[in-house]
Amino acid sequence: MGGNAVSPILEVKDLTVRIDTPRGPVFPVRSFSLSLEQGDLLGIVGESGSGKTMAGLSLLGLLPESARILEGSIRFFGQELVGATESTWNRIRGSRIGLVFQEPQSALNPILRIGTMFEEIFDSHRAGEGRELRAGIIRNLLLSVGLDRPDAIIRSYPHQLSGGMRQRVLIAMAIALSPEILIADEPTTALDPTISHQILDLLLERNRRDNMTLVLISHDLGIIRRSTRKILVLYAGRVVESASGDRFFSIGPAHPYSGALLLSRPGDARKTKRDGPLEAIRGQVPPLWELPQGCAFAPRCPRADARCHIEPPPWIPTGPNEGALCFYPSIQENVA
Ligand SMILES: Nc1ncnc2c1ncn2[C@@H]1O[C@H](COP(=O)(O)OP(=O)(O)OP(=O)(O)O)[C@@H](O)[C@H]1O
Ligand SMILES: [Mg+2]
Repeated sequence: MGGNAVSPILEVKDLTVRIDTPRGPVFPVRSFSLSLEQGDLLGIVGESGSGKTMAGLSLLGLLPESARILEGSIRFFGQELVGATESTWNRIRGSRIGLVFQEPQSALNPILRIGTMFEEIFDSHRAGEGRELRAGIIRNLLLSVGLDRPDAIIRSYPHQLSGGMRQRVLIAMAIALSPEILIADEPTTALDPTISHQILDLLLERNRRDNMTLVLISHDLGIIRRSTRKILVLYAGRVVESASGDRFFSIGPAHPYSGALLLSRPGDARKTKRDGPLEAIRGQVPPLWELPQGCAFAPRCPRADARCHIEPPPWIPTGPNEGALCFYPSIQENVA
């Protein structure tokens, strides 16, 4: 193998999540694979309902009650986590793989002060530190996420903070135990553009400076664009494209869906039309219980022909560790 063979810290292979619904079983995540090395910055992008949150939650053993992992493997430093006991998950979740939840309101307990929530995090993983030492750690964490009056924050209840402050607190909580991997699910979606920019900077700095592996989940390619090294595009529960950030943004994506996503970035849309986020593609993501035969994107795809509506598309490699789930990916030569 080449000299750059670094072993992955997280390796997910062919993960499929099943949810039993009154309409029958659905698969919000199907054959999902990824590989992360220390310090990686991965962006996961896709329209609402594509399975981003489900994929993220499955990596933390946090799937909702009705959902379960049907098959596949999640290896964290070589240890298999599919089927792991709750006590194994408890040792990893939060302390080694952190999560910034998509819904900040639900992640903060409204009846507890911020300081109490930090205490609970430390109690669950690191008992026996002196009170003073711990208070200092919490203060520094809050300062490090740009909250410059940490003592006031520690005494506050969530509702007393602005949305941007709450998101900073959540990030501080998620990194409190210095996880090797942080999964941030739509960390900036609820925030205005300036705050959103600052929050993103904060996460990117953790990634760059502390080599914390970052998985950034967003429906907005504008967010993903900023220095993401790897990109996974999800559609109807499947990875339809895996690409390096460089190739994706400078040469262009291979899958027609990714191309459409790129064309309909909110940044661009504002200049043209103020429509929904995907004005470049007609139609909507099909519901999971009504997935078409063949390629799930075919009904919306400008490139689709008869075969796309009948046969499931193949995974076609487009470069080293890159590929697209498509009969007709655009494969541009990388001109040196
Ligand atoms: N508890 C549940 N029961 C049944 N279906 C569910 C449940 N939770 C999620 N789903 C379905 O699973 C699919 C994936 O949902 P998920 O929340 O992962 O999407 P997402 O990509 O994170 O979307 P968004 O951008 O809106 O956050 C959706 O079709 C959703 O309707
Ligand atoms: Mg989501």
